[in-house]
Order: sequence, then structure tokens, then C-alpha cells
Amino acid sequence: MITASIPQLYTTRLPGERRLGDSQSTVCILSARVDKGGGVTTAVSDDQFDQKDFRTTMGQFCTGVVIATGAPDGVPAGFAAQSFVSLSLDPPLVAICPGKGSTSWPKIRDSGAFCVNMLLASQVDVCNNFAQSGGDKFSDLAWSTGVTGAPILADALAYVECTLENEVDAGDHTIAIGRVKAYKRLDEASGPLLFFRGKYGQFQEL
Ligand SMILES: Cc1cc2nc3c(=O)[nH]c(=O)nc-3n(C[C@H](O)[C@H](O)[C@H](O)COP(=O)(O)O)c2cc1C
Repeated sequence: MITASIPQLYTTRLPGERRLGDSQSTVCILSARVDKGGGVTTAVSDDQFDQKDFRTTMGQFCTGVVIATGAPDGVPAGFAAQSFVSLSLDPPLVAICPGKGSTSWPKIRDSGAFCVNMLLASQVDVCNNFAQSGGDKFSDLAWSTGVTGAPILADALAYVECTLENEVDAGDHTIAIGRVKAYKRLDEASGPLLFFRGKYGQFQEL
């Protein structure tokens, strides 16, 4: 399941896009080895880097999806993200990577705090809503204000509220490190929304 509202950076093939595995897609290959599974090992140099092909490769890594929220001057802001990681237990730190094109993150940064809301598999619509820039993303949602002032979505798997500890520049994204101030598991019976190869899915235990 995938919709047109998902930003191109996080989706599958773009019009005219070539991928490793296409017959003509060899531009960044300096050395290649065909593996048993049909995969190709690709070595790259900085000046011969195929961003789209690399993005496709990174799409092999399955993640959950979160909504990062904040409320500068009490006005809620938020965006969908997959770049969420648990960073440290002592002290308790998490990190998320906002793109430099995000319009919500600068507002959230200014508030000095953010909340990471982990989505349920049933919340594809919520993800798509927060994966767009602009508009009132909160009007159809139940939410409350957390101890940091950041919005907490009423329906989610869990949330982690943080104060912004540090932000590190990282290419076309930054790494925003948050110090955990509060957290809660909201639904331990349902499964997470997953994102894999540009599509949404759900968890199935093996
Ligand atoms: C599954 C998924 C994962 C995403 N992960 C990130 C992410 O980690 N960081 C980011 O900045 N944007 C991410 N995005 C894109 C933003 O949600 C999108 O650019 C959004 O329009 C930003 O909204 P804003 O302009 O209000 O900040 C993701 C989108 C989707 C659908």
C-alpha cells in the first residue's frame, strides 16, 4: 500500500529513474560481484554516487514509523519520520533525523522539546497526513499536551517525550538528540506500522 502523498525521498521508483538491476543501471559501479541471491555488490566513489540506487538499497532496511511533534507557542506541529532510534539508557537519549526541507522541524526545534509518537499498523492515514507539508495536520486527531508541552497523539503504540539536548549537522538532514522526560506504552495488544521498500506493512511473528 503506498499513496502519492508520500514524499519522493522516501518512496520507490521515480519517473525515468534507473535502478541497480535495470539493464542500463551501471553508472556508479566500480566493481561488482553477483551474489547467490542475484544481488550486486556496488563500490562507489564520492563523484560517482547514484543517490536513487542507494536510497533503494536503504529501503531494504525495514523500520517503524513515528510522528515527531512539538508545539511552538502552543501551536501543534509534526511530521512523519522513520529515522528514529533509541540512543542511550544512561542518560536516556533518543534521536530522530529531520530533513533540512522539513517545515515543521524548525518550529519544533524552537520549542526546545519534541514527542515521538510510534504509529500502529492501522494508522497509515495518520502517517500520510503527517508526511505532507502544510495544513492543519491535527484537526482530525485526538491529542493532549505532554509534560514538555509537545503534543501526544491519543492513538499510538507508545510515545517518548524529550527535551532537545543537541542537534548535529548531517548532510541534508540533522540528527536531533532528545533527553527523555516521559514515555508511555499506550497499546501493547496491537502491532506497529512498518515501512519497507517504499511500502507500508505490518509485523508478523515467525
Ligand atoms: C515513511 C516515511 C518516513 C519518513 N521519514 C522521515 C524522516 O526520518 N525525516 C524527515 O525529515 N522526513 C521524513 N519523512 C518525510 C516527511 O514526513 C515529509 O517530508 C513531510 O512533508 C515533512 O512535513 P513538514 O514539512 O511539515 O515538516 C518521511 C515520510 C514517510 C512517509
